[in-house]
Amino acid sequence: MATSKSHIATLIFFFLITIVAFSYAALDPNKLPKNTAIHFPIRKNQTTLQYYTTFDFLNPGSFIVVDALIDLGAQSVWFDCRSYNSSSYKRASCGSNKCKKAMGSVCLGCNLTPRPGCSNNTCGVFAYNPFTEYLTAQELGEDTMRASSTDGRYVLIDYDVPKFQFSCADEDILQGLPGDNTKGLVGLARTQVSLASQISSSFNLPPKFALCLPSSSKNGLGDIFIGGGPYYMPPVIGDQSSSFARTPLVVNPVSTAPVSSEGSPSDEYFISVKQIEINGKHVSFNSSLLSFDKNGVGGTKISTIAPYTTLHASIYKRLLKDFVKEATLKKIKRVTSVAPFGACFDSKTISKSITGPAVPDIDLVLEGNMVSEKFKLSGSNLMVEAKKNVLCLAIVDGGAEPRTSIVLGGHQLEDHLLEFDLSTSILGFTPSLLLSNTSCSHYRLF
Ligand SMILES: *[C@@H]1O[C@H](CO)[C@@H](O)[C@H](O)[C@H]1NC(C)=O
Ligand SMILES: *[C@@H]1O[C@H](CO)[C@@H](O)[C@H](O)[C@H]1NC(C)=O
Ligand SMILES: *[C@@H]1O[C@H](CO)[C@@H](O)[C@H](O)[C@H]1NC(C)=O
Ligand SMILES: *[C@@H]1O[C@H](CO)[C@@H](O)[C@H](O)[C@H]1NC(C)=O
Ligand SMILES: *[C@@H]1O[C@H](CO)[C@@H](O)[C@H](O)[C@H]1NC(C)=O
Repeated sequence: MATSKSHIATLIFFFLITIVAFSYAALDPNKLPKNTAIHFPIRKNQTTLQYYTTFDFLNPGSFIVVDALIDLGAQSVWFDCRSYNSSSYKRASCGSNKCKKAMGSVCLGCNLTPRPGCSNNTCGVFAYNPFTEYLTAQELGEDTMRASSTDGRYVLIDYDVPKFQFSCADEDILQGLPGDNTKGLVGLARTQVSLASQISSSFNLPPKFALCLPSSSKNGLGDIFIGGGPYYMPPVIGDQSSSFARTPLVVNPVSTAPVSSEGSPSDEYFISVKQIEINGKHVSFNSSLLSFDKNGVGGTKISTIAPYTTLHASIYKRLLKDFVKEATLKKIKRVTSVAPFGACFDSKTISKSITGPAVPDIDLVLEGNMVSEKFKLSGSNLMVEAKKNVLCLAIVDGGAEPRTSIVLGGHQLEDHLLEFDLSTSILGFTPSLLLSNTSCSHYRLF
């Protein structure tokens, strides 16, 4: 009897210690336990074909949960502040250091009732809606954000991110953001005010983040990891970073942002594709399209807002021709194309593999450390069901004069784990996770 009582007392004791330890952790924003990172979920909307995350602010006078579009190429974070009434919110004044760090470039005023997003003599930062191409200057402010830690397997506990900088969206920029509930945008570009940079520096984590884009949110969510691994993809045992291949993130010397100062490089993520192969055979096209010209035109970038990879028309034409030829050798029957795709097939003539439809592989041959590395696209990364019994090559024509020759889009990135290491400028990428019986859609337990 006595032993059992003391046993229970011991359990309660440890339970309390655990609570104390966790609450302590929650109060100390700079101390994440070793081998933990910060985690945000990713959902895919099958109608808009866009990827979203959710974050929240819980502050005196206001609790707000924001569904925000993930834009790898955007510079900052913004959301609808109209119902935001936190008393801890602070606007940044014109010309302040915070304003400079956030690339603030104008001074704003406002004639309406003062609220977050409406004040005088305030730092204005540019924000851009890539779908409507609407550009505006918005009030820069800061408040305490909440973020959850992860050990790569579980989402563990909420932490405070004090002085998180964002701008307050005006009504017009929200118009035409895809997704009815979308109230903001999360930028992950190479800036000091991207979601990843702010979180890494707030927690003293390595300047790294990783994306695992889900092909569907039916069986769970994808992941944004900030601060490095480990990366576990249930039910597989083991850290996925052990299967990374690596390629340099190259800098486009000419800015691709809607507003930039003269001579500044692009803060989007470019990689160096050296050639493209289908079933191991070179696709031949003008290779000077793969590098930047003096105006920063050309090259290959990674985008989370382009639903499908987009190719310069002359690359697209050759790739399509070679893909159809290889598919025909596999007795796959071509059918009438369904726009915007240029090559569609009778799905009854395509067998199945672990990565999806068994079609010819497309390899992007990338610059590596000593030898080149291949980003292999196969199965469901290549095909999309355009209508019943019709599978199309999920790559589209970018026209004859695109700014960027290859824009690697969402469909091709799904179910690969991609790690952007900003200190070394290296992209780590796994083969399709489907090959190891997992994916980027799963539930992370609390
Ligand atoms: C914001 O909070 C203040 C103080 O609590 C209150 O007076 C004001 O009415 C609130 N505004 C909105 C829009 O909720
Ligand atoms: C900004 O200044 C103008 C002119 O002094 C004033 O009318 C307005 O109410 C102020 N706006 C805010 C949000 O305080
Ligand atoms: C996806 O986007 C569409 C179009 O905006 C919207 O109607 C729908 O509610 C969204 N689905 C989810 C699950 O949010
Ligand atoms: C290849 O493309 C570059 C850039 O668009 C162009 O200047 C060059 O003339 C092209 N070369 C050939 C052989 O078509
Ligand atoms: C994946 O699952 C299949 C079928 O359950 C099994 O045959 C295969 O060995 C598994 N592959 C890996 C890499 O675990």
